[in-house]
Amino acid sequence: GWSMENVLDEEIKVIKSTVGTEDHVICALSGGVDSTVAATLVHKAIGGRLHCIFVDNGLLRFKERERVMETFEKDLHLPVTCVDATEQFLSKLKGVVDPETKRKIIGKEFICIFDAFAHDLEQKLGKRPTYLVQGTLYPDVIESCPPPGSGRTHSHTIKSHHNVGGLPKDMKLKLIEPLKLLFKDEVRELGRILDVPQGFLKRHPFPGPGLAVRVLGDVTQGNALDILRQVDEIFIQSIKDAGLYDTIWQAFAVFLPVRSVGVQGDQRTHSHVVALRAVTSQDGMTADWYALNCANIVYYFEHKFLDDVSRKICNSVRGVNRIVQDITSKPPSTIEWE
Ligand code: XMP
Repeated sequence: GWSMENVLDEEIKVIKSTVGTEDHVICALSGGVDSTVAATLVHKAIGGRLHCIFVDNGLLRFKERERVMETFEKDLHLPVTCVDATEQFLSKLKGVVDPETKRKIIGKEFICIFDAFAHDLEQKLGKRPTYLVQGTLYPDVIESCPPPGSGRTHSHTIKSHHNVGGLPKDMKLKLIEPLKLLFKDEVRELGRILDVPQGFLKRHPFPGPGLAVRVLGDVTQGNALDILRQVDEIFIQSIKDAGLYDTIWQAFAVFLPVRSVGVQGDQRTHSHVVALRAVTSQDGMTADWYALNCANIVYYFEHKFLDDVSRKICNSVRGVNRIVQDITSKPPSTIEWE
């Protein structure tokens, strides 16, 4: 039957027979649920012939690199090379304001780094890695009809897939996509069986281009990234403390490239405006600004919660004197602001 234990056993068999006993496999970890579960699964099948890379592009959240590396190493024992490419990314993004251009630059830089990683490995191993693991999910690959023999009968709308399709053409890596018949909740279940920590499996989705699409305009302006990290951390931590994190699809802060007048202490200030956004969603295709009615219990941000968050941010994050809340759904907005 279609139990996750069976899926796991089956996948491990398939991976073992596909990869054989000689070949090496590479995987780019994003810090998200999908790539982590995919890598953990492949690691279980082929052990040390899996080589993962995690790229710090300078666009990550507060302490993200430290947090995910700790999970990879201590909890999952995954072999991960961590590359700090902050300067490389930020220098290429300097002065760029167009959202699609930002995405293209980030995609290209990522490929360069990935390429270098593969070449280094080739030197070290004396042979090329042959396979690439990707955490592609079922909704990412299917338009309207499931593949024959997949056992799936649903039709599911396609989600534009941001993470596939941008790999170096000359690399000729064969793909391993162990999650490609699964939905998100099934991937979480698989992760649970693989002992991926529960807190990790419940992480909100985070876009590949990272904070670049949450700092409107030039990501290198002033200390925008630093401000955004601090604000986002306070918002997310408050949401967790209030027990609301798991009722939300995604919550985050957005840095706006505008200043407004404020008064802090006896000082007139002319500082930044930051927006807070939280949404509920099934698959990211559509979304509602946050409030969730689940079994007749309504979860939402109370006045006091928002008031505390707002005060905490303005009191502790230098350069911010105004907080606004995003109260639009998708459509007409998108989840991200860029
Ligand atoms: P939007 O903003 O299009 O986002 O409503 C829908 C979902 O996709 C995520 N997102 C991205 N993920 N690369 C990604 O890997 C991207 O360029 C990207 N843009 C948006 C977004 O966080 C939300 O979950």
